[in-house]
Amino acid sequence: MRISKNKKRENRFRRIFSFFLCMMLAAGLCHISACKTGNDPAAGREQAGKQEEEGRGPEGQTGLESLPGGIAGRLPVIEEFHFPVEMETVHVRIPGMEGERFLLYLSDLHLILESDQIDEKELENIRARMAWSSYEGMTAADSWKSWVNYLNAMQGDCEGVLFGADMIDFASKANVDCLREGLEELKLPWLYVRADHDLAPSYLYGVFEPDSLEYQNTISPYEEVMTMEFPEFLISGWNNSTAQLSETGLARMKELFALGKPVILLTHVPIKPLQDESLAEKSREIWGGRELIWGEGCNNAPNETTKEFLNMIYAEDTPVCEILCGHLHFTWDGQVTEKVHQHVFGPAFERKLGVIWISGPSEKNDEKIRSNVVDKTK
Ligand SMILES: [Fe+2]
Repeated sequence: MRISKNKKRENRFRRIFSFFLCMMLAAGLCHISACKTGNDPAAGREQAGKQEEEGRGPEGQTGLESLPGGIAGRLPVIEEFHFPVEMETVHVRIPGMEGERFLLYLSDLHLILESDQIDEKELENIRARMAWSSYEGMTAADSWKSWVNYLNAMQGDCEGVLFGADMIDFASKANVDCLREGLEELKLPWLYVRADHDLAPSYLYGVFEPDSLEYQNTISPYEEVMTMEFPEFLISGWNNSTAQLSETGLARMKELFALGKPVILLTHVPIKPLQDESLAEKSREIWGGRELIWGEGCNNAPNETTKEFLNMIYAEDTPVCEILCGHLHFTWDGQVTEKVHQHVFGPAFERKLGVIWISGPSEKNDEKIRSNVVDKTK
């Protein structure tokens, strides 16, 4: 019984990484390498062009580096998939956990559709934003359909998909409907935390925040804190983390933290690392001097309630072991404290997909980690 269970696990592991590797190879063959800088499409195109000339992906990564060691030698099949994406893998170690689980992460798609809700004066601006969140001429709204097919191909290999916000660029009915239709087609369980872009009726005529919230509620009911629970750990989602955490949200987080399970925190806005300035520095560099992260002295400066929550993350006895986030439109990976790791994922409009590999710490797993860790901050 034990042997067949292990065998099953091994086969599952092989299948999932074979699939990922196929995607990477397809990306490599197509020489897809676009990297945008902040909100500046021109800078992105220039950088993408340079990288293409040099035959490498964004930040020098091909994607193969992030796969567990030895997997490249065990490539069984190469499948054609006409939607190359770039994987960012994160390994989360849960003490005492047997076996492994995989989750996917996607954020910052910034899906935009034109509609009659858009204020005429904003139309030109909207079209520029549509071009900005397009990839190789495909709008984010069109790519969303392909994303759903792509994610569905992982059914059976992954436990679910975490959507880390900014999935739409503004909360019009058309944008929310398009997102919801895709989610209705998704065959994996999912959790979607929102942020300002998902909730704000920016650029719209006669649409206000309660209307936008009503649209969002057709996807899933809005709650302060959203969760996805597994026997070994808990995903705790800070909904609308571009705003301060409310008293209700804090109370809910306290309840969840008291359950005694390791917590993976899903938030749109990253948390300021205590000892490492590189995240704040990179944010200033990309975002015109702004530190778009939660922390003292940052653009997201916490009020007393949010500060209390941040201290729950910084505490030595925190149950948080991993923070998964987006928002900055660049990749960063490092420690928030000695105990808490954080990965900032690149945006889905650049075809970045997070792969979260969750397992118990073991010599075998540590060996895999040593061979696949990519320090993207260098
Ligand atoms: Fe974003």
